[in-house]
Amino acid sequence: MNTFELGEKYVMNTYSRFPITLTEGKGMYVYDENGKEYLDFVSGIAVNSLGHAHKKLTDTIAEQAKKLIHVSNLYWTRPQCELSKKLVENSDFDKCFYCNSGAESIEAALKLARKYGSATGGRQEIITMNHSFHGRTFAAVTATGQPHYQEGLGDLFPNIKYADFNDIESVKKLVNKNTVAILVEPVQGEGGIHPATKEFLQGLRSLCDENDMLLLFDEVQCGVGRLGTLFAYQSFGVVPDTVSTAKGIAGGIPCGVMLAGKKVSSCFKPGDHASTFGGNPLATAAANVVVDELLGGLLDNVKEMGKYLTASLEKIKSSFDIVTDVRGIGFMQGIECSVPVAAIIADTIENGLLLVGAGKNVIRFVPSLIATKEDIDKAMAILEKALERAQG
Ligand SMILES: Cc1ncc(COP(=O)(O)O)c(C=O)c1O
Repeated sequence: MNTFELGEKYVMNTYSRFPITLTEGKGMYVYDENGKEYLDFVSGIAVNSLGHAHKKLTDTIAEQAKKLIHVSNLYWTRPQCELSKKLVENSDFDKCFYCNSGAESIEAALKLARKYGSATGGRQEIITMNHSFHGRTFAAVTATGQPHYQEGLGDLFPNIKYADFNDIESVKKLVNKNTVAILVEPVQGEGGIHPATKEFLQGLRSLCDENDMLLLFDEVQCGVGRLGTLFAYQSFGVVPDTVSTAKGIAGGIPCGVMLAGKKVSSCFKPGDHASTFGGNPLATAAANVVVDELLGGLLDNVKEMGKYLTASLEKIKSSFDIVTDVRGIGFMQGIECSVPVAAIIADTIENGLLLVGAGKNVIRFVPSLIATKEDIDKAMAILEKALERAQG
């Protein structure tokens, strides 16, 4: 059986996949089993921060694997503790909790908020935003403000309310004496690449301060250097009480981190929360490399090339009537089209450029953080041809 036949027969059918089997990667490129080359502007959906087969990352992973892949969190390991020091010293937070995915890092924040609520009068309600996306576990999918992800699941996680993104009045209307936290993505990703306004995030911060509520940021997609700052909140100048991060943090090795500020970092006591694999030496050794690279100059590349990407997308918008908007920051950008984008993406893939949608009408650009001007120019050239064909 070829790979497609094997997959269709034995892998549960939860993804609509392209008929491509990828076997290798190098830098900004991946290759399929026939040797066809693709410029990768998906990067595992904002995961491969350092591109593919980054030498320092792969060497570190190989060396760590030879020494110690995993031990229980019953013991300390050096990579986890060193990573925590770096993350804390380069942020406004006090402590790190480790897990393995974005959804888990959201679960950790929600649990911490509920613990805080229990300790401060028994409050349980959490406000999240319409069109948000927070993951597929039960609490995370409930927090996700897109009903189609919840269809057929029966009773959802209780005490979640939905407000409108970038509309502080709609949030205020939902606050009551049972509200303990507000969860928000600084840039909504799956919902269509919508950045929060600084005023909105500042408004949420004030609302939380006035009502002793926690502000929880979901930086799973927009964090880890993607906006040009190590954490997304640093691009907005609004400090939340917790940040949930994952995806790009270990460059492709599963790793999630929930960081909390002093106000709540001691709400979890031994036994309150745990994860077998969370922060294991392999994942955190990899994450140390990613953070070192980001702080060692890669953030500057994102800032500079992010502006270049915006300018390139604006140029495309001015040339094609079907492109109606350009949104985003750094290496998390999108173009909205007046037509469904699935066929345009299929066309670019056919012509050697991997892109991914964000909803029906938005093409998302989330390349590795190493992307250069030449990579962007090449991606734009392939995209332009596909848009010409789509426009007819
Ligand atoms: C903003 C956001 N939060 C949470 C998640 C869930 O992450 P994971 O798929 O690692 O559980 C995602 C995944 O796309 C995301 O974009």
